[in-house]
Amino acid sequence: MVTYRSTMVERIDLPSRETRERRLEEAGYNVFNLPAEDVFIDLLTDSGTGTMSTDQWAALIRGDESYAGSRSFDRLESAVEDVMGFPHIVPAHQGRGAENVLYGTLLAEGDVVLNNTHFDTTRAHIANQGADPVDCPVDAAFDLEAGETDAREFAGNFSLERARAVVDDAGADAVPVVIQTITNNSAAGQPVSVENTRRVREFADEIDATFVLDACRFAENAAFVREREAEFSDASIDEIAREQLGYADALVMSGKKDGLANIGGFVATTDVDLFERCKQRAILYEGFPTYGGMAGRDMDAMAVGLREAVEDAYATDRIEQVRTFGRLLEDAGVPIYTPVGGHAVYVDAGTALSHLPPEEFPGQALVCELYREGGVRGVELGSFAFPNTDRPELVRLALPRRTYHREHLEHVAETATAVLEKREAVSGLELASEPPIPELRHFTAELRPV
Ligand code: F0G
Repeated sequence: MVTYRSTMVERIDLPSRETRERRLEEAGYNVFNLPAEDVFIDLLTDSGTGTMSTDQWAALIRGDESYAGSRSFDRLESAVEDVMGFPHIVPAHQGRGAENVLYGTLLAEGDVVLNNTHFDTTRAHIANQGADPVDCPVDAAFDLEAGETDAREFAGNFSLERARAVVDDAGADAVPVVIQTITNNSAAGQPVSVENTRRVREFADEIDATFVLDACRFAENAAFVREREAEFSDASIDEIAREQLGYADALVMSGKKDGLANIGGFVATTDVDLFERCKQRAILYEGFPTYGGMAGRDMDAMAVGLREAVEDAYATDRIEQVRTFGRLLEDAGVPIYTPVGGHAVYVDAGTALSHLPPEEFPGQALVCELYREGGVRGVELGSFAFPNTDRPELVRLALPRRTYHREHLEHVAETATAVLEKREAVSGLELASEPPIPELRHFTAELRPV
């Protein structure tokens, strides 16, 4: 049993309804444009928004800001080796910086890359190298009707059937990299079993590909493995983490998630040759290899955060809080993706606002109503964020780590209930401006009520 007490507080205010309405209009009905000061409960992301521990704050003071050979780097390197089992790291300013370093090193024009589901920045960095990112989720991943069946226990898994079909078509030589994202953020934060990781390792060996784990939520994933994979029911979180990560040739890590830090990331590998090549690219894009885009103090905070993330009490409490939040929403009659994943509850906006067609962005309409009604900020991951795909209309309510308490979650559930009580009156939205890159439109596009 673990809980937290506050040793520092930040005041948050619910602005008046009039202010919320005005802010929404000024933001062009896009919550990325809202001033954070006017957001009451901020569930936009779990990335870099968590609360650091007193030990992490203490570690900041030790930061060694030397350009080369920083002691903070040594401490981060040791933490990654102890917690994740990888001896070589190249720090980066955040996860996408690490993606640029690694995929820029591994890929060439025309390559094909397989992943259980590519996160947006992963997809973009792979495409930026002229390569083709192909998703291989299992069938259960996006089947909202499936409910809590066995297939849903590890709905984040990588589908070897799909991957083999791609390889049969494109040829093994065209696929130099296979990625597994744990947990699978783009598939409702669902976990990946260790057994699936083993099979992907074998598959990568068969086609002679480099196997990369996108490990940003590796500790949350390990907590699910302990609950659901019989082989690991008596193992500790840190044992499971090392076992699962140990199958990969390289990791890309956003330390803003299970590094429990506000900024930073890294590439880690066991392959000395790959390490040397990544270092060269990192010097160009991130910084000298012993800081790579991070301040010394931030490397120290992450070194402590990584060790905290694999404490059993921490990881169990983390996924339990997200599950409790899911239960509160379900009890309030809100349709959600079940079972709940690791870092967020995903609301099924297509069902919640079934009177709105996809062209009127039901997910984004729900996001706006949650803000208007209760100052709550979530993010749309449906037809607004992913134009021209047949993804379900999901809204993600992500929980920052160690930040909100039950009363905050109750406020969100009450807000959602109030929105659903007047669902028929919720109008759809249409685009008022469209940025040049369709894949990134949800960050900056403006909308208006239909
Ligand atoms: N990979 C995954 C699976 C992610 O979820 C993210 C970030 C990244 C890579 C990139 O890391 O943000 O440090 O550059 N996800 C955040 C989110 C932004 O809200 O889900 P980053």
